[in-house]
Amino acid sequence: MKIATVLGTRPEIIKMAPIIDEISKRGIDQIILHTGQHYDKEMSDNFFKDLEIPTPDYNIHVGSGTHGKQTGLMMQGIEEVLLDEKPDIVLVQGDTNAVLAGALVAAKLHIAIGHVEAGLRSFDMTMPEEVNRRAADVCSTMYFVPTNESAINLLAEGFSRKNLFVVGNPVVDACFRHLEIAQKRGFEEESLKKLDIENMDNILTLTMHRAENVDDKTRVTNIIDALKELDDMNIIFPIHPRTKNTLENFGLFDELNDLHHVHIIKPLGYLDFLLLTSNSTLILTDSGGLQEEAITLDVPALTLRYNTERPETVTAGGNILVGSDKQAIVDNARKILDDKDFADKMRNAVNPYGQGNSAELTVDAMEKYYAEGLLDIKAPEDIMTSFTRKMIKITEDISVEEFENRENALVHMAFDGDKMQFPNDELNLNGMMITYDKRE
Ligand code: UD1
Ligand code: UDP
Repeated sequence: MKIATVLGTRPEIIKMAPIIDEISKRGIDQIILHTGQHYDKEMSDNFFKDLEIPTPDYNIHVGSGTHGKQTGLMMQGIEEVLLDEKPDIVLVQGDTNAVLAGALVAAKLHIAIGHVEAGLRSFDMTMPEEVNRRAADVCSTMYFVPTNESAINLLAEGFSRKNLFVVGNPVVDACFRHLEIAQKRGFEEESLKKLDIENMDNILTLTMHRAENVDDKTRVTNIIDALKELDDMNIIFPIHPRTKNTLENFGLFDELNDLHHVHIIKPLGYLDFLLLTSNSTLILTDSGGLQEEAITLDVPALTLRYNTERPETVTAGGNILVGSDKQAIVDNARKILDDKDFADKMRNAVNPYGQGNSAELTVDAMEKYYAEGLLDIKAPEDIMTSFTRKMIKITEDISVEEFENRENALVHMAFDGDKMQFPNDELNLNGMMITYDKRE
């Protein structure tokens, strides 16, 4: 089997690293294709070193630009490589433009696509990421979904349960593995010294880069006003290049940088950043990955957004959405600082993203599909029989797998009277309403 991984931005490198590593360990043939969307050393090269993964075999160097231009250039470059390399499956991760470009190109070339972190939905079509992730899901063959909730999103859109693999999120693998490496190397003291602050008490780690926040002067001003009030915190802000540009353009960079308790620094490498976040009292962010890492590292998170495609973190109690509302940011931050029970409750929220074995489960599934010939994308040759979609209540002890074998059916949804359940093979359906397709 030959696997091609398409990536292009910082979070894709981090989240694909455990999977790339697992593929190498198993001796499976692989190529890595970098779109070049992120190109600063601090946003790209450093992560290949920190995460100890091979440098990409190809870099398309698309650089920055409008969505259309960037995605178009990526598609052209990816197509050339895939025509040449002929992989059995293309892996894309998340919701960036690389995901959209990689999925569209591979689908047209009839190459199977594995979407890592599939099924997330913010239900906000003004976000470029929501467009990308939905389009990639339409094109994909295998869906590596982090939680049952994301699997249910896909079921509700009509995707077949058989191609959904609930594997957790590889960010947990990356977090566990690399925090240990960083601590063992004695990185901690050195990297914290680099931050050049007087003490490590009351650390608030801040990251923001979402277009809807940092490209909007009113929102970003509200956030800065909130930061001004949190002057008993050490606010460490490794700044994303997009944010640096817009703050400078709005004339807000110096105002923020001059605050005695705000330390604006360059983006950190992954090991340094993990040590910073794991030593933080609070994380304030609009990052997707950081919402997941916060709950993995038991650090309370306030998310500078009005919606999230990671609602599990909020339901679990580790994350609160505060938008760019100054008062909501200040009040919730104060509560975490001053109310120990409240903060402990957030810290003890159960991580919904798995045990840190996501890479292993993902590669297991790909090997199984490859062995069974399920990565071959062919037009169907059997004459389409009719099928009916039915809904019934089950009143006997029977698992999904047993029901499907007996009825020659495929179960879609299972409802236990309270909420939707993801119908994995072992689920006992007794007492549930189910929908299923039946071949006649
Ligand atoms: C992209 C992703 C976003 C992801 C984020 C991770 C899309 C649509 N957006 O957003 O989903 O959360 O990466 O960080 O794919 N720049 C540099 N150096 C770099 C990269 C960017 O200076 O190495 C500057 C450029 O001015 C560029 C701006 O940052 O115009 C935005 O970069 P871009 O890659 O378009 O989007 P991100 O905001 O990074
Ligand atoms: N990150 C990092 N250094 C930093 C800031 C973030 O290594 O200075 C990591 C962080 O741990 C997370 C990822 O970058 O894994 C998140 O990337 P980003 O916020 O750019 O993108 P998103 O997750 O929102 O797509």
